[in-house]
Amino acid sequence: MSNVSELSSNRSAKALLNVALILLAGAASTIFAADTAAQNEPTPAPISFSRDVAPILAKKCLTCHGPEKAKGGYRLHIFELMLKAGDDEIAPIVPGKPEQSGLYRRLITKDDEDRMPQKDDPLSAANIGLIERWIREGARFDGSDPKALLTSIIPQGPHPSPPTTYRQPVPLTAVAFSPDGRELAVGGYHEITIWDPSSGKLLRRIKNVAQRTQSLAYQPRGSFLAAAGGSPGQAGEVALFNPVEGSLVKVLGTMSDMVLSICFSEDGTRLAAGGADNAIHLYDVASGKEQLLIQQHADWVLAVAFDQKGGHLASASRDRSARIYDTKTGELEMTYADHGAPVFGIGFSGDGKSAYSGGRDKKIHVWNIKDAKKSGELSGFEEDIIKLLVKGDYVFSCSADRLVRQHDAKERKLVRTYSGHKDWVYTLDYHPATSRLATGSHDGEVRIWSTEDGKLQTVFVAAPGYLTADSSK
Ligand code: HEC
Repeated sequence: MSNVSELSSNRSAKALLNVALILLAGAASTIFAADTAAQNEPTPAPISFSRDVAPILAKKCLTCHGPEKAKGGYRLHIFELMLKAGDDEIAPIVPGKPEQSGLYRRLITKDDEDRMPQKDDPLSAANIGLIERWIREGARFDGSDPKALLTSIIPQGPHPSPPTTYRQPVPLTAVAFSPDGRELAVGGYHEITIWDPSSGKLLRRIKNVAQRTQSLAYQPRGSFLAAAGGSPGQAGEVALFNPVEGSLVKVLGTMSDMVLSICFSEDGTRLAAGGADNAIHLYDVASGKEQLLIQQHADWVLAVAFDQKGGHLASASRDRSARIYDTKTGELEMTYADHGAPVFGIGFSGDGKSAYSGGRDKKIHVWNIKDAKKSGELSGFEEDIIKLLVKGDYVFSCSADRLVRQHDAKERKLVRTYSGHKDWVYTLDYHPATSRLATGSHDGEVRIWSTEDGKLQTVFVAAPGYLTADSSK
């Protein structure tokens, strides 16, 4: 949860954080409790590293021995690294011999300074017992790849079911139109809900979804619906669903904190995911393999976008920069640092030559991806720009000023402002063929607008069973 406490008290940091925190108390603790209970059961079968040991290490050790920090010169976020001694040059794991294994000795030592996890309670006797047994049984690795991130090899159990009816709406952080424009997917609480955008009627509910969904994307030229999210400070997940059958197809990756943004390449073969692990993961959709791990940002990756040709990927981060990468090699090509403030949204122009990025500085910067030189800006925002979408000829953006704006991408002029949301607008999607814009707000309300005349077509609260005081449908 360190990410959360490190945040500034700034309003817009709160905007994003609210989303993350709002449901933390309830579900996260039940997940936790279930976990511990399972670990306390006596397990006669051999200890599995990925199922039994990795979750303990991921939860208790990664903050100091992970991608960001290597206290004592030691990292364990990748199995191969976990076997390499740090500064004290004691082999962390000696298969068959827990008492000679540096890592195990660090768990049981009576010396508070040396005992791990440092600055925390000792691990439970049950968890220490699991690690001891795993080492004694030969310290075997049973994951798919000893070079993979520890968090990605932890098998995910089914998620809890969503509420049958909602007593409160949930803040909306993800909406997406299906490729034919006939359905709108919306992130709910442990579910994705599918709605008819013309009537506002609920069509389907997809279960087995992470607690919060931060980003949704339909696969171009394919049949998957990808969802990214997690539980703040606890877990993150990127998963593919069959939106018609409403079933989980495959989990592409799991992390130790929320995944915040996903994007398919234009041909639908690759999926990029960025999140609170400060990294970008690039997956091959067909095989489900993680092809590239890009670690260039020093803080949360809040948005990712492919260009139309699929040759470049862009990212926006809370570290105040936006970046451009080669999608084949993952190499960093350009860093744009002119925002001087956290960047929340990013997109490419149709020709792929320019990037549009926006965030806490209340402006959309237009810049050349070849030299990161600014070529223009779109202004007039009164609060932070939370999300940005470049599609067709337009740049759509939504803001904490409760407005949604449509700019002409080439002319860089405001086409229209969509007003009516009563709270911060977190998310949007645009479907050019049906000229529809969908927007989602902190108060749980979805609005569907016509981009032809700017008129509001439908309004609904995307919380099954929830009745507003003025529900006049
Ligand atoms: C709050 C930070 C923190 C956490 C959490 C933490 N460690 Fe450490 N760890 C340290 C520091 C600092 C050192 C180096 C200082 C020392 O040797 O005591 C260290 C050293 C180690 C070493 C010795 C590395 C070497 O070769 O020198 C091992 C092994 C280790 N930790 C394992 C773990 C395990 C396993 C966990 C989780 C159960 C964990 N640590 C959690 C801070 C932490």
